[in-house]
Amino acid sequence: MNFKRPPVIAGNWKMNGTSEMVIQFSKNILKRVLDDNAKRCEFIICPPAPLIPLLYESASQSAFLVGGQDCHSSESGAYTGDISALMLKDIGCSFVIVGHSERRISYNEINSTVKLKVGAAKKAGLISIVCVGETQDQKNNGETFEIVRSQVLESIPESASDSDIIIAYEPIWAIGTGKTPEIEEIANVHAAIRDVVAKSKGVEVAEKIRLLYGGSVKPDNVAGILSIDDVDGALVGGASLSSNDFWSLCENAAKLFAILNRKV
Ligand code: 13P
Repeated sequence: MNFKRPPVIAGNWKMNGTSEMVIQFSKNILKRVLDDNAKRCEFIICPPAPLIPLLYESASQSAFLVGGQDCHSSESGAYTGDISALMLKDIGCSFVIVGHSERRISYNEINSTVKLKVGAAKKAGLISIVCVGETQDQKNNGETFEIVRSQVLESIPESASDSDIIIAYEPIWAIGTGKTPEIEEIANVHAAIRDVVAKSKGVEVAEKIRLLYGGSVKPDNVAGILSIDDVDGALVGGASLSSNDFWSLCENAAKLFAILNRKV
């Protein structure tokens, strides 16, 4: 984590939760006050779409921002069951997760689909959290860098800049498994992603763009992961479903950021 790039902790609730969970989060964490250092961090919760309005209302005047988990690439039209970026913006979202591996796998989303969604999100005024990451087989075959590189290059529109996107490296084999890569592996992949961005969008954008790690991030391993220079935050699944876990994870991230801030 680098004090120049405001860290991001984003919780992805996936298809979990009812209004009762939002009420509990509202009581337990949304009303807590953060210290000045934590105020520079961005805390985001991405609930299932039907819970967005309630969460947005409950999170108003809190440190938490709201995001969607996916969007369609069109603004409107005959796409039964889909939600546009414009609609997410309209109900209070500032962010949207795009190209999560669960969508790439279950809905056959390819890089070009993800790219169109990122474009739609930008047009609607949303920041996309673009997910990339390799499968266990690809890792075993030594293809991690190649896969991640092509996902970054092919999923992000030419026009997108550091203010429009955040990139999340989520190795698929680490999601929901309790397994995480070695710190050195995370560092190497993140450095490679920053390098790809530098080559495609210039060094200035690469230095400003925020790169998150996702995959079995918990309150007790978040500080170690965020200590890596090129890791600017975390995309959290399971541990974002409990208000206690998510709060301690956010607090640990903010504490680390405060230490970095004081060192400069
Ligand atoms: P877990 O934190 O449950 O591994 O999920 C990660 C993830 O997929 C976040 O988008």
